[in-house]
Amino acid sequence: MKFFIDTADINEIRDLASTGLVDGVTTNPSLVAKSGRNFLEVVEEICGVVDGPVSAECVATDFETMLKEGRKLSKIADNIAVKVPLTPAGLKTCKALSDDGVMVNVTLCFSAAQALLAAKAGATFISPFVGRLDDIGQDGMDLIADIVTIYQNYDFATEVLVASIRTPMHVVHAAKLGAGVATLPPGVLRQLFGHPLTDKGLAAFLKDWEATGQSIL
Ligand code: E4P
Repeated sequence: MKFFIDTADINEIRDLASTGLVDGVTTNPSLVAKSGRNFLEVVEEICGVVDGPVSAECVATDFETMLKEGRKLSKIADNIAVKVPLTPAGLKTCKALSDDGVMVNVTLCFSAAQALLAAKAGATFISPFVGRLDDIGQDGMDLIADIVTIYQNYDFATEVLVASIRTPMHVVHAAKLGAGVATLPPGVLRQLFGHPLTDKGLAAFLKDWEATGQSIL
């Protein structure tokens, strides 16, 4: 499973990229607004820090303008994945960009039918939002299971990029279902490291080691 981080905070990205565990980055207009940075500048900077796909989202809603935005974003760096919403104009833009060899991430997916359309439009990634479905009382992971099955049935190349992740268990469930990518808020990626028995065990080992009076180096 690939791990992307879901943030436009360059300091968080630099810090987590240094772990060697980050395969890409996703941003959205809300995350860019939160960063307080110029969109095009921050995306270019992120592309210089992370080698893998960096999603940058279009904000137009009509096909012609969205395609222009997507083409402009795709020129920022080779690892840009243009993000488009799951709307008729978004999928038309997806098809045009993917025909040109540009990576496309189709976002705001909330149904298996939508995911099927995105794959047929040549999406590189489909982003189903599990947390937002959980928020309205639907199990977001049921959607991931459906999409994984449908894509396997037809051998679609589109990767399932599990988005709107809120907890480490979302990541574990998505991995058990065979989703290709999870995009994690930085805090959730850090939470994956933790277990109280790891902390307790390490403290005991170090205490016993100290009593030996030895050193390795
Ligand atoms: C994905 O690309 C989105 O940026 C993101 O996962 C949305 O998450 P949220 O529902 O926590 O805003």
